[in-house]
Amino acid sequence: MLSISSLTVDYGPVRALSHVSLEVPRREVTAVIGANGAGKSTLLRTVAGLVRPHSGSIHVDGVDITGRRAEDIVRARVALVPEGRSTIPELTVEENLRLGGMWRPRAARAATLAQVFELFPVLGDRRAMRADTLSGGERQQLAIGRALMCDPECLMLDEPSLGLAPLVVTQILEMVRTLAEESNLAVLLVEQNAVTALRVAHTGIVLNLGSVVMSGAAADVAAREELRHAYLGY
Ligand SMILES: Nc1ncnc2c1ncn2[C@@H]1O[C@H](COP(=O)(O)OP(=O)(O)OP(=O)(O)O)[C@@H](O)[C@H]1O
Ligand SMILES: [Mg+2]
Repeated sequence: MLSISSLTVDYGPVRALSHVSLEVPRREVTAVIGANGAGKSTLLRTVAGLVRPHSGSIHVDGVDITGRRAEDIVRARVALVPEGRSTIPELTVEENLRLGGMWRPRAARAATLAQVFELFPVLGDRRAMRADTLSGGERQQLAIGRALMCDPECLMLDEPSLGLAPLVVTQILEMVRTLAEESNLAVLLVEQNAVTALRVAHTGIVLNLGSVVMSGAAADVAAREELRHAYLGY
């Protein structure tokens, strides 16, 4: 379980997150939705150790990871799939995957690699092909697969649906939900695509200008029409 308590983040004079608290249980997808600039990426980047918080705390299974270095946080088994499918185009699918979890023992990594190929068969089929030959949806699977190579307990995804066709978005998000439920993962999903995200998530959290303005069961959040108009613009 990932627990975030009263997290406040500033970029110089700009307050990007203000007293954000939320919990991400294992086997569940928790979706954070909100408009441009709401602070969604800041939230993930702060948990991942890429941005230092002003105050507040972050715990994983009771262990305090607040302010730790990014590489220590990955070792604490929190993995981030950043926005924009950060795979290396010139490397093959397998080489990209092998870059994940480099510090882990060789046998453990080999076992995870086999699991990733089982989860995403298309990656196994294309293991020797360069990443830049993959379609957008396949590359997103590769980015998720690389994060899984770190054997995370908590997986964070920043807008995995960006630039993908609607059908592919649904496939990817359903894979993410299955992953949470079957691999005992706590998934924190950040999306501007609120409708699709709330369909696969268990819990929904609406972020606006750095503050949580609503949280609850995903279906309940999806049903709150006035929230959609006020914060999500549809
Ligand atoms: N490195 C930075 N330096 C200064 N301000 C920043 C920095 N990164 C983000 N911000 C500001 O912090 C706020 C939150 O940005 P953030 O990227 O977290 O939003 P977001 O919800 O991910 O938006 P989007 O949906 O566009 O990805 C915005 O006002 C943004 O301009
Ligand atoms: Mg963002």
